[in-house]
Amino acid sequence: PGFTVETLAEIDSTNTELMRRARAGRAEPTLLVAERQSAGRGRLGRSWLGEPGDALTFSLGLPLAPVDWSGLSLAAGVAVAEALQGPPAPAAALRLGLKWPNDLWLWSGAQGRKLAGILVETATAAGAEAAAMRYAVIGVGINVRPHPAAGLSTPPAALQEVLPGIDAPAALLRVAAPLVMAVLGFAATGFGPFQARFDALDILRDRAVRLSDGTTGTAHGVGEDGALLVHTAAGMQAVTSAEVSVRPA
Ligand code: BTN
Repeated sequence: PGFTVETLAEIDSTNTELMRRARAGRAEPTLLVAERQSAGRGRLGRSWLGEPGDALTFSLGLPLAPVDWSGLSLAAGVAVAEALQGPPAPAAALRLGLKWPNDLWLWSGAQGRKLAGILVETATAAGAEAAAMRYAVIGVGINVRPHPAAGLSTPPAALQEVLPGIDAPAALLRVAAPLVMAVLGFAATGFGPFQARFDALDILRDRAVRLSDGTTGTAHGVGEDGALLVHTAAGMQAVTSAEVSVRPA
């Protein structure tokens, strides 16, 4: 089957829907956009809320040969950030960065706020190729229109703050092809070629950070597998899964 682009007026979650289809034997290359999600999901069991028009919410599902998946969400973040940033300009109003592992931040002045998030999940595809292939689902949520967010200390950033007039379809046009290319590239090469591109966008680099287990240190970029390198009292630690926050001064 070919590559399908599909838009739904409403679904619980585009990630959940593509995972459901894969488990039911329909692990097909699909880009699924939802105008509204009733149960959008974020990382670590959090929810992703949004009203129609506030955000671009979609998932890309692709059957891929098994690889080391750990860097996939970083590679996807690199592609989305670069696509939104556009060509380098000396006085670019748009200053994007990536907060490991997969948050996109927008800078205005000295203040950074979250603009977008990525949720990568993989399923074993039911059917004949199940042993050889996995189905990777890359879910992307980008705030497009400024909106108040209950329960958040800092309001999220929105794309329209820096690209006036942009709407969800226009944002999708910018990011879709670069994201597909990045995921296919990742499947062929692994994270290696994305390491320097991530570094150029890394907002934690040289900052004091605290890991979710309480360990503190200084962020030192990412390794060639996408692990966050943190210089701690006990030496350099490669962090593969943890919630990392910038330590308050
Ligand atoms: C995060 O910030 O923790 C990740 C947020 C990912 C949200 C997107 S919206 C489209 C896709 N479907 C979901 O349920 N989640 C992702």
